[in-house]
Amino acid sequence: MNSTTPPRPRILSGMRPTGKLHLGNLVGALQNWVKLQEEYDSFHFVADWHMLTTDYAESWALETNTLEMVTDWLACGLDPEKATLFVQSRVIEHAELFVLLSMVTPLGWLERVPTYKEQLENVRDRDLHTYGFLGYPLLQAADILMYKPEGVPVGEDQVPHVELTREIARRFNQFYGSVFPEPKALLTPTPRLPGTDGRKMSKSYGNAIFLSDSPREVEVKVSFMMTDPARKRRNDPGNPDVCPVFDHHKVFSPPALIGRVNRECRSAAIGCVECKALMASSLNELLDPIRLRRSQYADPRRVEGILRNGTRHAQEVARTTMGEVRKAVHLR
Ligand code: TRP
Ligand code: SF4
Repeated sequence: MNSTTPPRPRILSGMRPTGKLHLGNLVGALQNWVKLQEEYDSFHFVADWHMLTTDYAESWALETNTLEMVTDWLACGLDPEKATLFVQSRVIEHAELFVLLSMVTPLGWLERVPTYKEQLENVRDRDLHTYGFLGYPLLQAADILMYKPEGVPVGEDQVPHVELTREIARRFNQFYGSVFPEPKALLTPTPRLPGTDGRKMSKSYGNAIFLSDSPREVEVKVSFMMTDPARKRRNDPGNPDVCPVFDHHKVFSPPALIGRVNRECRSAAIGCVECKALMASSLNELLDPIRLRRSQYADPRRVEGILRNGTRHAQEVARTTMGEVRKAVHLR
């Protein structure tokens, strides 16, 4: 960037290290991040401490999952020349800011976060009655405020967390002077993309198509996908509106093909076998450039080097912010 270029507005977003990413992650976040890096000073991090708030009993996979996920980021076109990619736990300032924010955060604000009660009641396979889990949205607020971003690209489920972040910023500023600007949520529009069995696409359901699947794996997974359950025989007309295969066509196929499937499914002019083969080709066409770019990151040392550089840059910003914060709180 030369001296005549105005600084680009900053955005920041994190992702929990779930390992290999799937199509849902691509259309729900990653494609948007790749687009935004052209216009924004983008910070993206692996939210490994966030993973521990729920998966503390199974932390052994953290390192592999971090590496796999960041490899997918790079394969999808996140460019370390344009975006700062880093790991949350390696910028320990996040923990310090979390502690200081916790002093001014009323408990009720955390207990009222919609995901909190909902998950406490619904998650059965682990105990979420922990201090860390209650504090999750506050840790997220620290992640965000640390970099003073203008926007936070997130899905709808995360908007309450950004709203809470704004309230925390306001409250901190009331006590200590205006340190933190209030960030805005940049809502990522997310198309409906169910998994192969029609439920929400999720790694843990075993119904995901991964960005790292081979062309053959994609074909096989698509061939076993659920279709309109009422369409039993080849000559039965189908209803694409209830078919997960059609949901994928709508996201990944060219308009002419979407129109054709929409018509020919209803009149039984096309069969599910052919329809699926066409959808698998659309998917593979999208994934081919990702596969090609991935081959450049086969060496994990290359990915690790990118994370090291990104982390160093993030640390510089974090140290500057924490200098201001300590001064404001009279902690020097
Ligand atoms: N909570 C987010 C999620 O589950 C991940 C996350 C952590 C995040 N810190 C963040 C997202 C800061 C945006 C900004 O998806
Ligand atoms: Fe689904 Fe295609 Fe079969 Fe119609 S033809 S039910 S859209 S797979």
